[in-house]
Amino acid sequence: MIFSRITGTGGHLPGAAVSNDDLVARGIDTSDEWIADRTGIRFRHFASVQENSSDLALHAARQALAAAGRDAAEVDLVIVATSTPDQVFPSTACLLQHKLGNRTAAAFDVQAVCSGFVYALTIADKFVRSGSHRCALVVGAEVFSRILDWNDRGTCVLFGDGAGAVVLEASAAPGILSSALHADGHYHDILSVPGQVCGGGVSGKPFLQMDGQAVFKFAVRVLGDTAVELMAAAGLPLSALDWLVPHQANIRILQSTAKRLELPMERVVTTVAEHGNTSAASVPLALDVAVRDGRIKPGNHVMLEGVGGGFTWGGVLLRF
Ligand code: UT7
Repeated sequence: MIFSRITGTGGHLPGAAVSNDDLVARGIDTSDEWIADRTGIRFRHFASVQENSSDLALHAARQALAAAGRDAAEVDLVIVATSTPDQVFPSTACLLQHKLGNRTAAAFDVQAVCSGFVYALTIADKFVRSGSHRCALVVGAEVFSRILDWNDRGTCVLFGDGAGAVVLEASAAPGILSSALHADGHYHDILSVPGQVCGGGVSGKPFLQMDGQAVFKFAVRVLGDTAVELMAAAGLPLSALDWLVPHQANIRILQSTAKRLELPMERVVTTVAEHGNTSAASVPLALDVAVRDGRIKPGNHVMLEGVGGGFTWGGVLLRF
């Protein structure tokens, strides 16, 4: 039987950290106190105008490949989760594959907003377990700073740019133990960028808009439900979970989820204070941080969870 296993992780944050006070200095009608109290966010990073998602992805991918001891030429599948692709097409995955110097891997993007990475990882798991592919590079990469309305203080203070990556390889032992993906398009308008490229311009609003409170309630409910679903599917009690690595949107969402699951916050990996919300990049970035600082160790049960626009949500339970 073939399983899939993460063999390397990587992450990249562009430029210098931008503090809440830096946003105030840029003229946004907000305060460090409001942002920190309501969200837990203290810093975020923004890409320069020359940098696109594929550039951030390249840094993260190289790190993940180095950690896995793999050369880019050995990769036979590249999946990039992004809602801020470099271009309408070709996919950011194809641009990344080119930058890596790989000319044979299958490459495509996945668009599931902040759930994108868990969607991409679940797809890669199914490719690897089918036996069709052996070495997948799975990346979440975003430049959300490009789609923020700087006149909307309710959203522009929340997001940042970055990329996280994993190498997922065929293995005789698991690996990924269970996964779950869900969506309910009925909620398409509580978090969206409604604009589209049309006739040489943009028609509709090309900025992120959100009903923050609706998103908050939805996120707490589905993160809790998905955690229960993933553990049950793997035949494990919740007490067997060593680390929860959830999408990083708001520290209060993470605290409420941990409370619902009776999980101490010490077992929840949080990077929202330093990264802000990096959408599809947030989960692999947080995973990489906790792997590199030695918290996540081989054999640990780790749960990755995403929730975001669509509405989409899901997760992956794995033995690291
Ligand atoms: O990846 C998934 C996407 N996002 C999320 O998961 C976010 C989920 N939602 C949230 O995290 C929270 O709903 C927010 C942080 C976005 C907002 O927190 P809230 O407690 O729901 O605040 P609110 O929108 O109800 O606004 C409360 C007040 C308002 O003032 P008034 O009407 O009470 O006078 C806002 O105008 O806070 C004001 N406000 C701000 N004040 C200072 C909103 N944004 C800001 C700001 N700085 N940046």
